[in-house]
Amino acid sequence: MTKTRATIIGWGKCVPPVKLTNADLEQMVDTSDQWIVERTGMHERRISHVEVTDLAEVAAKRALASAGLEPTDIDLLVLATVTPEITLPSNACFLQERLGAVNAAAFDLNAACSGFVYSTAVASSMIEAGIAQRALVIGAEKLHFLMDYHDRNHCILFGDGAGAAIYEGRADGSGVLANDLGADGKAGQAMVSPVLGTRGQLDRPRDPASDRLHFEGKTVFKHAVRGMEGSVRRTLDEAGLSVDDVDLVVPHQANFRIIEATCNRLGVPMEKVVLNIADHGNTSAASIPMALNDALTDGRVRPGATVLFTAFGGGLTWGSNVMVWGDRIEPVATSDADLPPTDKTVFDLLETNRAFFAPFHKAGSDS
Ligand SMILES: CC(C)(COP(=O)(O)OP(=O)(O)OC[C@H]1O[C@@H](n2cnc3c(N)ncnc32)[C@H](O)[C@@H]1OP(=O)(O)O)[C@@H](O)C(=O)NCCC(=O)NCCS
Repeated sequence: MTKTRATIIGWGKCVPPVKLTNADLEQMVDTSDQWIVERTGMHERRISHVEVTDLAEVAAKRALASAGLEPTDIDLLVLATVTPEITLPSNACFLQERLGAVNAAAFDLNAACSGFVYSTAVASSMIEAGIAQRALVIGAEKLHFLMDYHDRNHCILFGDGAGAAIYEGRADGSGVLANDLGADGKAGQAMVSPVLGTRGQLDRPRDPASDRLHFEGKTVFKHAVRGMEGSVRRTLDEAGLSVDDVDLVVPHQANFRIIEATCNRLGVPMEKVVLNIADHGNTSAASIPMALNDALTDGRVRPGATVLFTAFGGGLTWGSNVMVWGDRIEPVATSDADLPPTDKTVFDLLETNRAFFAPFHKAGSDS
């Protein structure tokens, strides 16, 4: 009997309308379009005027339409995010209510930029075990909340957005074949955001000197390349596949040079790699489902193709999933769900951030 595996049958993406271009960043910090493009491959990213659940809701509605499903058909909802709008209830429960997905168990998952591959591993394992039949997996981020838009070392890298995929149990040879997940908490000191969480006194005023991202980009870069290479090799080994069997790689979009270095070490030609980093920057847990959505829209996914996801991020965490694509490469239907419009500029949206961190930089203690 063919084993039941989790196959993607729907997908969706939501990007907020306001762009943060390299030219905008040149007005905020000592940087240049040339430096950013050469070192990262990024040209612009989006800054959200709404909350993370709003982004997730639109991506989810588009994925449901694409799958031809009703919210009540979903029995598992996993929302991967490192920027929840609040922590209780989970944002997944907010979303479950908004969608009317009343039959779904719902929880948030935080594995930073590896959130979507972790969530895919969880959802596919639960489907294989018979605990769930149809899982809505979403990566959604409002990362600009964690940034300091006076600090060129990190504020150029990240953007906001959401992507969603619906996994269904199928016994037709398609679906997720293998997953690899890992973490190194000790090395996690390279990227720490103390902004969201209970640490500290209840009455302590927010302080721009301490309530800011600690980020060692070079350290993370090295771990990322080695981490994703090892994770991909273990995943393919477990699935009994070689690198040459892979038709399409959808990597986490952290830095073009990280993706290129990883693919070079693996021997994956760049023609097989999906890239949207130029338009979106690093959207953490949202980056893989957003890039997957783009690959489907561009007709790059074929029925029966072997598709690989791989990611690396804060924690530190890493992971990969390899799957045989099913028969669906066109959406069943489209949704007219969209975000509310805004007339705010990117400078309006980042004004509070820049005002909060300005005293820290005036004090001359640059990071
Ligand atoms: C952050 C990152 C782009 C920096 O690229 P890099 O090639 O490693 O650059 P370096 O850190 O060596 O910095 C080189 C110089 O550029 C400067 N620089 C850093 N950011 C800059 C910017 N935005 N514009 C101009 N110069 C910048 C540095 O100050 C440094 O100057 P110095 O040599 O005088 O000290 C890269 O390391 C990276 O992508 N890291 C991983 C990203 C990550 O962790 N993402 C999240 C997890 S997935």
